[in-house]
Amino acid sequence: MDLLLLLSLSALCVSAEQEVENLSGLSPNPDRDIFVVRENGTTCLMAEFAVKFLIPYDVLALNGIDLITEQASVSVPRGAQIAGRCGSSESELHISWINHAFTFRIFFSKEKRTMGSDGKAKETEVWKINKVQLVYNTSEATHFISAYNPGKHIASTHHLSALVTPAGHSFVCAAQQTLTLISSDHQKGITVSIYDIQIQPFDIKSDFVFSEPFKCITDQREQLEQMLPLVLGLILGLIIVITVSVYHFHLKLSAAQQPQLPRDRSLYKNM
Ligand SMILES: *[C@@H]1O[C@H](CO)[C@@H](O)[C@H](O)[C@H]1NC(C)=O
Ligand SMILES: *[C@@H]1O[C@H](CO)[C@@H](O)[C@H](O)[C@H]1NC(C)=O
Ligand SMILES: *[C@@H]1O[C@H](CO)[C@@H](O)[C@H](O)[C@H]1NC(C)=O
Repeated sequence: MDLLLLLSLSALCVSAEQEVENLSGLSPNPDRDIFVVRENGTTCLMAEFAVKFLIPYDVLALNGIDLITEQASVSVPRGAQIAGRCGSSESELHISWINHAFTFRIFFSKEKRTMGSDGKAKETEVWKINKVQLVYNTSEATHFISAYNPGKHIASTHHLSALVTPAGHSFVCAAQQTLTLISSDHQKGITVSIYDIQIQPFDIKSDFVFSEPFKCITDQREQLEQMLPLVLGLILGLIIVITVSVYHFHLKLSAAQQPQLPRDRSLYKNM
């Protein structure tokens, strides 16, 4: 049903040089948003996730001299502004809200990797997130309550290699991924938690449709953990069946191998 809706939406879109779609409200998870960047009349970057930021900031203590660190919890509201850029090996997603008091940027890159397995080096193409940045303005008074010396700050990661995914796939992860960004505000650490993710920054084949999913390891493990009781139950059942049948055969065999008792009592005489 979602697909149909998306397809009809795509039909409505006029092909411009660069368009940015606002599909917030389509996701069933209220915290999860859909972000779409379109270029040349087709989707070139698409992401769905829920995200939360924990941003420390200074406030003046009651004595008017000391500084205390408070923490603002920020999430992306519905109807955030989406922008982006698509390239063949580099893409970007920019999400802004509250009149650009907050801008969250995710930078993606595509690269060739040699995966060594039993001596044979194999070259595969992957994409990954190589940088995450949050620009925030502590003058924004609904989240930063009486911030000391308010102003604009930039927090980023450097040399990040996250969500490494084979090219041509979308990355899927229900489990939470946590990143720490270092802020220009006295090197404070900002925590970014992203969960319920599906994301694809390159090689989207059809408009508004993710390519084949590549699941994160935690989700794979979770799947295994859910399967484990079933598998163990099956193994146990099998062991019981084998034990019972072995026992059964053993009884039959030993019965067959027992020396036949002479039927005729007179035979005993000769023994
Ligand atoms: C869109 O078209 C322009 C010009 O034709 C091209 O340079 C650009 O790479 C295209 N973008 C995508 C995402 O294909
Ligand atoms: C997205 O939609 C919301 C309402 O659903 C609107 O307030 C907001 O301005 C839109 N953003 C863009 C970039 O169109
Ligand atoms: C931060 O927000 C305040 C209040 O909204 C605004 O006056 C100021 O220009 C903003 N700073 C920057 C660098 O955008």
